[in-house]
Amino acid sequence: MQNSGFIQKVFEKIDKLDAVKIRQIISELSTEKELYKLAFDSLIEGVIVTNRDNKVILANRTMEEFISIPIERIYSREIGYCNFDPEIKEVLDEALTGSDKVVDREIHLGRTDQRIILSVLPLLGNGEAAGHVIIFVDITEKRVREMQLRQAEGLAALTTLSAGVAHEIKNPLTSIDIHIQLMKKEIAKLEGEETKNMSNLLVIVKEEVDRLNSIVQDFLFAVRPMSMSTSMEDINEIVKEMAQFLQYEVEEEDIEFVLDLNEDLPRVVVDPKYLKQAFLNVIKNAIEAIHEKGEIHIKTESTEEGDVVVHIVDNGEGIPQSRMGKIYDPYFTTKKFGSGLGLVIVYKIIKELGGKLKVKSKEGVGTRFSIELPVLEKKKKLLTYEEKDESKALNR
Ligand SMILES: Nc1ncnc2c1ncn2[C@@H]1O[C@H](COP(=O)(O)OP(=O)(O)OP(=O)(O)O)[C@@H](O)[C@H]1O
Ligand SMILES: [Mg+2]
Repeated sequence: MQNSGFIQKVFEKIDKLDAVKIRQIISELSTEKELYKLAFDSLIEGVIVTNRDNKVILANRTMEEFISIPIERIYSREIGYCNFDPEIKEVLDEALTGSDKVVDREIHLGRTDQRIILSVLPLLGNGEAAGHVIIFVDITEKRVREMQLRQAEGLAALTTLSAGVAHEIKNPLTSIDIHIQLMKKEIAKLEGEETKNMSNLLVIVKEEVDRLNSIVQDFLFAVRPMSMSTSMEDINEIVKEMAQFLQYEVEEEDIEFVLDLNEDLPRVVVDPKYLKQAFLNVIKNAIEAIHEKGEIHIKTESTEEGDVVVHIVDNGEGIPQSRMGKIYDPYFTTKKFGSGLGLVIVYKIIKELGGKLKVKSKEGVGTRFSIELPVLEKKKKLLTYEEKDESKALNR
């Protein structure tokens, strides 16, 4: 590998070198340049180098993932020509006009849901800034993996706790319930006005015990292995049943159900009882997220792979980005009376059915939960399942 001192020396002696020697040196330098270019293009980071006028003087192939234009077309152009997403543009403008460098700034692109780490460093030539080096790293998959790992760890920790909690809480609760029945019988034997008051108080105690019992049951449901009894089912029928079941509650809340069911879907192997429970939890969340008038769209369609997907889309409050990583955590709730186990149960059921659960949300716009269920015997694909533009999908 030649250093810059070598080139300087060649330059000084160039008049004394014969053509053969010069040709040899040029060939070596050209091979070396190719090698640098190869290494530069092989980086997982996208890199752009700009001059003092913020014009592109160098860019590597990886950069095409971030700008969707061939890099050849951006050479000598102003950096703005790359047409970056507004979130990136804002940071670049700030870094290129100011004197502060930007190091490892995490940016979330609303349009594509990508997560980018961006650095803007000064390009130093002879000790003074001759431009900038701009570095992009896509960490979207890394973040998704981290989130999945957190979910798995959360579930594992919860399972370990379950046996103890079941004994500690469920047994005394059953005993309290039995004693309430006994007290009721004893009170019934007495006479007088006071017995009425006592009965009323017992009704409250009984209600509270029932509430505790249902929390414990939810908890156990979330952590115990499930014994599913599966059958071939028409997913649209299940959706219609759920919509009918919740119709009254939804109307009460001034919410409208809009069903968009693809009637040409293959059947899926599911346990309808569990699947209904999963739908119920997601739809309940959607109802709770809508504070005034609103709509819940339920759409069924085929995925690109021929599986079946059910989208449950609300135009409620949405989930802030900072909360996204926590919604599957056991006990995470933002509601006054929530137990924070609803989505843990959904996740578990869908996983048990071999499906996938995806969520997209925009604060103030709404949320879309997509439940993908595998089809064993895949028909030839009839419909294309598109991951639609987030805002469009949410506004449907
Ligand atoms: N459709 C949605 N819109 C907005 N936020 C949601 C939505 N679905 C879930 N969330 C958020 O995720 C959190 C966890 O949901 P999850 O269903 O697990 O628990 P919960 O609804 O709070 O309590 P519960 O155990 O009663 O279901 C919610 O508290 C809420 O902040
Ligand atoms: Mg819930």
